[in-house]
Amino acid sequence: MAGKQTVIVTGGSGFIGTNFVRLLVKSGGYRVVNLDALTYAANALSLVDLEGHPDYVFVKGSITDRELVSSLFAKYQPVGVFHLAAESHVDRSIVNAEDFVQTNVVGTYTMLESARAYWKGLSDEKKHSFRFLHVSTDEVFGSLGETGYFNEETPYAPNSPYSASKASSDHFVRAFHHTYGLPTIITNCSNNYGPYQFPEKMIPLMIMNALSGKPLPVYGDGMNVRDWLYVEDHCKAVKLAFEKGQPGDVYTIGGNNEQKNIDVVNQICVILDDIAPPVEIPQLREQGLKSYRELIRFVTDRPGHDRRYAIDSTRIRRELGWRAEVGFEAGLRRTIEWYLSNPDWVDRASGGSFGEWIQKNYAWRAEESK
Ligand SMILES: NC(=O)c1ccc[n+]([C@@H]2O[C@H](COP(=O)([O-])OP(=O)(O)OC[C@H]3O[C@@H](n4cnc5c(N)ncnc54)[C@H](O)[C@@H]3O)[C@@H](O)[C@H]2O)c1
Repeated sequence: MAGKQTVIVTGGSGFIGTNFVRLLVKSGGYRVVNLDALTYAANALSLVDLEGHPDYVFVKGSITDRELVSSLFAKYQPVGVFHLAAESHVDRSIVNAEDFVQTNVVGTYTMLESARAYWKGLSDEKKHSFRFLHVSTDEVFGSLGETGYFNEETPYAPNSPYSASKASSDHFVRAFHHTYGLPTIITNCSNNYGPYQFPEKMIPLMIMNALSGKPLPVYGDGMNVRDWLYVEDHCKAVKLAFEKGQPGDVYTIGGNNEQKNIDVVNQICVILDDIAPPVEIPQLREQGLKSYRELIRFVTDRPGHDRRYAIDSTRIRRELGWRAEVGFEAGLRRTIEWYLSNPDWVDRASGGSFGEWIQKNYAWRAEESK
């Protein structure tokens, strides 16, 4: 373990957390203590490859549990925290925001208080190098019109209960830096996509529904714009901000990749038509499906649906040398192939029968194309 830096990662079993923990451990420079409550959004299969790894410790528990969180600081003496744990699904926050307030606001406050108590007792040198990195979202800035970009100076204007809870957590992080000097960094990132994303989110939902011959529900007129970033590029940005950012810094992170929702869905269909054509899949052939695009349906818009998000990442590019490396078409293809190759993971996440579906409809194609 010599030379490795111990860090606490919260929410390491979620979508971004899974990709992030793997990046840190595989980098060889970190020993990761992953604190995760394993809510519905987590998947026990996501980090199965790290079980028993000497640089990976899993702790099941909530970030709202002050005693537990403080005991982890005392036991592991981390050089910093990557705080990712959150309730993150906007649609769920619209139905009921209680868990969002508890985890995102109270949980973040609990992490900050525990970190502060631990940090106060460190030597000057360790105090100086300690970092509390808070992973947040561009949704805290509200909605953009046809033009303009969010950047580090954009005023907060959250519109959904989810973004309101994240905005509140950002304010607490900022306040702990300004009031107590806790060395915090905040990153506000645009929409992520990639492997291990819970199938309720737009991109995996469309992939799953298409392959099952179910409708592809597009909110409103489908013209809402998001700036999509491949999850590994986001993870690299967060690691860089932790290693090179200064206390009090804020970075907005995006893929410089604005896409209308309807265009994303169309691109998913084009890739699926190519790698798993419906005419070659018995169940879909019987349905008379020639292209997955035939499944697209426009449905009632999400209440308070922000029209456009777009990020200006100039600061992190200029100051830390970060840039997005994975293009959208390549990233989308990689993502779709990952879902097709991991039916057990999808089954576990959705409680569904995707594994069975793959066996019946797709496995023979994969075999044939070898
Ligand atoms: N997904 C995106 O596009 C995106 C974009 C920008 C920022 N973010 C932020 O990144 C972070 C991670 O997002 P994600 O998409 O991986 O979310 P996710 O919902 O996939 O994962 C969240 C994880 O947090 C855990 N968790 C929830 N409540 C907890 C609690 N009380 N204590 C401990 N663990 C708890 C869950 O079990 C899960 O493993 C969030 O803070 C989110 O706001 C996400």
